[in-house]
Amino acid sequence: MTRIPLETALDELIEHKKRMGRISMRHMFSSDADRFKTFSASACDILIDYSKNRVDTDVMSSLFALARSSSVEEKRNAMWAGERINSTENRAVLHMALRYQGDKPVKFDGRDVMGDVRQVLGVIREFSENVRNGTITGSSGEKITDIVNIGIGGSDLGPAMVTRALSPFGRKDLRVHFVSNVDGADIADTLAGLNPARTLFIIASKTFTTDETMTNAASARQWLADKLGEGAVIAHFVAVSTNIAACINFGINENRIFGFWDWVGGRYSVWSSIGLPVALAIGYENFTAFLAGAAEMDRHFLETALESNLPVILALLGVWHRNVWGFSTQAILPYDQRLARFPAYLQQLDMESNGKSTQLDGSAATLGTGPIVWGEPGTNGQHAFYQLIHQGTDIIPCDFLLAANPQEDMSPHHAKLVANCFAQSQALMLGKTIDEVRAELVADGLSVEQTEQLAPHKVFPGNRPSTTLLYRQLDPATLGKLIALYEHKTFVQGVIWNINSFDQWGVELGKQLAKNLLPAVQNKTARRKAANDASTEGLLSSYRRFQEKQGK
Ligand code: F6P
Repeated sequence: MTRIPLETALDELIEHKKRMGRISMRHMFSSDADRFKTFSASACDILIDYSKNRVDTDVMSSLFALARSSSVEEKRNAMWAGERINSTENRAVLHMALRYQGDKPVKFDGRDVMGDVRQVLGVIREFSENVRNGTITGSSGEKITDIVNIGIGGSDLGPAMVTRALSPFGRKDLRVHFVSNVDGADIADTLAGLNPARTLFIIASKTFTTDETMTNAASARQWLADKLGEGAVIAHFVAVSTNIAACINFGINENRIFGFWDWVGGRYSVWSSIGLPVALAIGYENFTAFLAGAAEMDRHFLETALESNLPVILALLGVWHRNVWGFSTQAILPYDQRLARFPAYLQQLDMESNGKSTQLDGSAATLGTGPIVWGEPGTNGQHAFYQLIHQGTDIIPCDFLLAANPQEDMSPHHAKLVANCFAQSQALMLGKTIDEVRAELVADGLSVEQTEQLAPHKVFPGNRPSTTLLYRQLDPATLGKLIALYEHKTFVQGVIWNINSFDQWGVELGKQLAKNLLPAVQNKTARRKAANDASTEGLLSSYRRFQEKQGK
């Protein structure tokens, strides 16, 4: 199918916007008893209610046509066929193979990758079970009680978010900690409470060159060697990486290196051996349930018509908001405290994937691409930033996420959580008119003058978009499905925006400049000719002055 440029498809959508601009969602709900039925979709035990968005069937059919003319189906199939769709890095994108449950070959360069995938899964199984049952111990034979994962970005956010989300499936006597920041506070605070004889470090880095991870790994190694002696290091360190030579060079036992492949992007790697801390925390059976959940969503994504395809629907709503209405942010609001790190996880997934301004052919993007993704769990956010969502001058599309069943049986907590979640999307949609406010104030006994003074402040514009994702319970399979859902949403949007969602060149300049600046930061006394811009030089000398004041 010939690709219709997004700009052309937008003309039609802009006409729809003009029409939708004259109708409120209140009106659409009151005039259509079937609105929820029409604009909700279910698959894999997840319900998506998108009826509280400014869409009608004409809008949705233009959006589905846009997806078709952008070759979403062809590109989706090309990804699954192992084509090198990550063109700037000349790599395939096969994270779906990591969780594939079927028996067909998954080919890359003519070779089935499933043998390698299953072999590594077998090693993860054996290792995680042996740590959990005490067969693998520290150097002095003590049982491992604490695991420290050292990694950053995709080598941290995935396992950290998942481990927290699935903590009810963990064990009290096996704690998993995550160290990512090069700020020494991170590793210092983590090590402070640990017994080295019972601690296992996982150095997780796809490249095994990332400065933060290597710096933290060196400090952890030093800490352990200081406490237990150099000879103990080998028993307390394992690595997860595609760079086997660098792991061996660091001193990791070759049998304790868990590999993966360059067709797994960092932010798509929680399903690979980067998920080792998850398997250790919740056990291999639960880890496989997590993979199987994602595989179920993959099947749905690969096999379902666009009109009922959950990731496609989410992606198209995002395009509608971003490119037609000009909304530049997307809030992720889990009413699920254990998903506290889910917004941060999606920040990397979405913003590192689609925060691009160059199209696949090298030309500049002419329309907005990835939105700013942010969020915090409800109900906490209600008492912080929801004010702006309800009454601010910017409109922020919100995704609400909610489990129908809690892990804890603690009445009335969950009922209150659910009522709050539903109430927020209702409030955003309905708003409150000035007449409704006036009537309330008069009923409360305020004078006419007081009422007129106060009323404008209490008006809610309403008509603000939100989508609610409701799932049965936050268990390993469901979490796998939710992550895969957002992965595919991100992919579909990248296809529509005609960008490469799988590279991340935008992180390089900062890394390069930090490297250049390090000698100047470390060398406090040397007089150098100013080599940087005035601001950077000013910051460097102020930094030195503060250090001197501290007596350094
Ligand atoms: O700097 C960005 C990035 O490359 C991410 O894409 C990646 O997830 C992270 O750094 C960590 O990389 P690595 O696993 O190679 O240490």
